[in-house]
Amino acid sequence: MANGEKMRSVVYHEYGSAEVLEISEVEVPAITENQVLVKVQAVSINPADWHFMRGTPYLLRLQSGLLKPKKGSFGLDMAGIVESVGAKVSEFKVGDEVYGESMGALSEFAVFSNKSLALKPASLNFEEAAAVPMAGFTAIQALRDKAGVKAGQKVLIVGASGGVGTFAVQIAKAFGADVTGVCSTGNVEMVKSIGADRVIDYTKEDFFTGVDKYDVIVQTAGNYTLKQLRAALKSDGTLVQAGDSSGVKAVIGMGFVFGMLKTLVISKMSKQKMPAFLAKRSKADLIALTELIESGKVKPVIDRSYPMAQVAEAVTYLEAGHARGKVVINI
Ligand SMILES: NC(=O)c1ccc[n+]([C@@H]2O[C@H](COP(=O)([O-])OP(=O)(O)OC[C@H]3O[C@@H](n4cnc5c(N)ncnc54)[C@H](OP(=O)(O)O)[C@@H]3O)[C@@H](O)[C@H]2O)c1
Repeated sequence: MANGEKMRSVVYHEYGSAEVLEISEVEVPAITENQVLVKVQAVSINPADWHFMRGTPYLLRLQSGLLKPKKGSFGLDMAGIVESVGAKVSEFKVGDEVYGESMGALSEFAVFSNKSLALKPASLNFEEAAAVPMAGFTAIQALRDKAGVKAGQKVLIVGASGGVGTFAVQIAKAFGADVTGVCSTGNVEMVKSIGADRVIDYTKEDFFTGVDKYDVIVQTAGNYTLKQLRAALKSDGTLVQAGDSSGVKAVIGMGFVFGMLKTLVISKMSKQKMPAFLAKRSKADLIALTELIESGKVKPVIDRSYPMAQVAEAVTYLEAGHARGKVVINI
């Protein structure tokens, strides 16, 4: 590709709601010797995207820019076709179908480090593959690394119908767990269909007042208190909180920080384990997810897909907090 060629890219120049997003003509980025240029086919969006777009919690701005976004590029998860490779990249070649996570993915072309990219699972189309990285990392790292889920354990996934939850239900089943999902009425059948042994409809029943206790709880949604979550956990169980349930306080971020500190202090005094959790981008986990997908144990759940021109509608829909699986944008 010749230097200076133009592409369409979704960008924002100020923080705000989805109206700040615009499609701009920018130069196709150049790659260094360890990077790969990908012609993006599909992108999935995550709550992280709208947190960066809004600049909330404000604590995020320490990284992204205090008053205005420093970069303003949008999107993280994508699947596409390798357009060119740096001189030191031997793992990929032009034409390979790949997927991965990198800032600024919602563009016709995006740059990836060799370390944030893997070959796309052959059984998935681009939309499905784009749905995997961040939600998949979160689910596998919460269950395997933080909770150490073992076969036969009772696992509760709170927010089982969301982007992370739909992966967490399937991955917990793949690990041999007995899985209960929590979601609203309209999603009960879908959560059963992806393998949950039981589903609790939170509009009819509280998961924390019943007699059932869980070895592991992964919370991805809902404003549940630590007391409620611990009430559903066995005395030696593990709680992994992936979602921030501090509601309006999340605008500043102190609710999240205080919540983490409170959890840390209580976990020191209790046999219940409540490790701090932040999912990391990982090539090894992209490969682990590919294996789970290729063995038929995990299949991304796509709620809706939108064209690039409707990115604002897609983000507004995701922000409402009731997506059923993943929301994808086709390039
Ligand atoms: N810590 C980390 O490293 C990390 C990484 C990735 C994501 N996250 C966070 O994890 C959270 C989930 O991400 P996501 O991509 O899964 O979001 P998402 O797709 O927007 O989650 C939407 C889902 O939440 C469910 N939900 C809403 N209220 C609920 C309630 N009271 N009880 C149970 N389920 C409820 C909805 O189900 P219904 O429509 O049935 O209500 C919907 O299916 C976000 O807060 C995100 O920021 C954290």
